[in-house]
Amino acid sequence: MSWFHNAIFYQALLHAFNDSNGDGMGDLRGVTDKLDYLEWLGVDCLWLPPMFDSPMRDDGYDIADYRSINPRYGTMADFEELLEQAHARGIRVITDLALNHTSDQHYWFQESRRDPAGPYGDYYVWGDDPTRYPEIRIIFTDYEISNWAWDEERGQYYFHRFYTHQPDLNYDCPAVQTEIFDIVRFWMDKGLDGFRLDAIPYLFERDGQGGESLPETFAFLERLRAMVNAEYPEAMMIAEANQPPRETMEYFGSGNRVHMVFNFPVMPKIFEAVATGSAEPLYDILDELPPLPADCQWGTFLRNHDELTLEMASPAARTRMYDAYAKDPRAKANVGIARRLAPLMEGDRRKIELLFSLLMTLPGAPFIYYGDEIGMGDDVSLPDRYAVRTPMQWEPGPGAGFSTGETRWPIVGGEGTSVAEQQLDDASLLMTVRGLIAQRKAHPELGTAPYEAVETGVEGVFGFQRGDLLCLHNFTDADVDLGPVELGPYGYAWVPIEEIGDGAV
Ligand code: NOJ
Repeated sequence: MSWFHNAIFYQALLHAFNDSNGDGMGDLRGVTDKLDYLEWLGVDCLWLPPMFDSPMRDDGYDIADYRSINPRYGTMADFEELLEQAHARGIRVITDLALNHTSDQHYWFQESRRDPAGPYGDYYVWGDDPTRYPEIRIIFTDYEISNWAWDEERGQYYFHRFYTHQPDLNYDCPAVQTEIFDIVRFWMDKGLDGFRLDAIPYLFERDGQGGESLPETFAFLERLRAMVNAEYPEAMMIAEANQPPRETMEYFGSGNRVHMVFNFPVMPKIFEAVATGSAEPLYDILDELPPLPADCQWGTFLRNHDELTLEMASPAARTRMYDAYAKDPRAKANVGIARRLAPLMEGDRRKIELLFSLLMTLPGAPFIYYGDEIGMGDDVSLPDRYAVRTPMQWEPGPGAGFSTGETRWPIVGGEGTSVAEQQLDDASLLMTVRGLIAQRKAHPELGTAPYEAVETGVEGVFGFQRGDLLCLHNFTDADVDLGPVELGPYGYAWVPIEEIGDGAV
């Protein structure tokens, strides 16, 4: 078992977590100042978004220099201090590495467009035919109508999987691969504990085969993993690969590709189960996912900084989800729903807890999105995915303890929705989530024990066994009596098998 099998991960957006200098924007020092809170909560690994220099047209996923710290967030010394302070508390730190594309402000792109025959000429995917790769879908459907954009200076089109200002790197160019390896080494040498590999399915494109999960991408991942194993054996890489179940499994390989993969197949099914009051979507999807290769782990999550993606949902499931969760059409973003956990659950404390309990017991290591532990709200009037990226609420009152300055995005607020208030109330969501984290840690077998479905005989009640623990989750608002275990509306229970005997479950 590796450290990540049982780690509790916490995703904190740098610009929205804590502002240490009053300029209205969160920063690295701000995060360092809150490490005690993360330790108190039970966090083992902090996931930071891209912290590199960037014009910030995609919240930093548009990287202009992979070896720098974005001055808005602080300095390299601030980053080193954060790492040292986190490690002193036993908290590891990973960061996002967007390696499919750069910002168009990156020096490589500037050179590539200026001098096609020069050393960077081949670093991006250039072409003369903007209809090439017709199989490749558009991801940011709210903003983009093509994956190609015309570059006046070079007199050619360049390929971009995301925003026009994010040209795709050309992984057929060996120098690009070498650059990426060196960037990984640069940060690992500073003591970083790993990376989230952003948008990893999209590295290569091939005529007739499209641009997702190609054999060349897996071969690259295997080489990257071999280097990481040899040089940084403790490091962890987690893939963001939002693909159909079988294809998602491919990112583990035989245990020779990435250590972890976000469980995109399961995530929307959790919300579908709540919306329909039926455990079937979860039984079905878990049935489709085979056991993992040795020493691999899922990253289980409820929400993150993006929309709750429905890209892989069937048309019928997508409609059910929009009907249930995007009654206000402003909540729709691209192919998904940009809302936070608490508003998705209409503030129903029972449902929010139910989902946190699932997060802690389903196969995988749990990832918590900042603010969801206090039931933070969202603001659907904000553009892009900023609805779910508003400032963390530390205290009641103006600035929410986040900043003394003027913030770019509004503070959502809400009485009782702050860390300080909830820490004083033993019955608060925050204290319950902290308790669930402690409970998860008291059952280390949850890190590796196989998942076995357990038929409960009640459509709305999801049952599964992990090691010696029977986990029950009721997706309905009805009381349920299973014989040895009773569940209230949206109730949940983790029951040691020996307590059940020959009961009905
Ligand atoms: C995936 C990230 O999660 C998302 O926030 C970003 O916009 C895209 N990659 C493009 O970098």
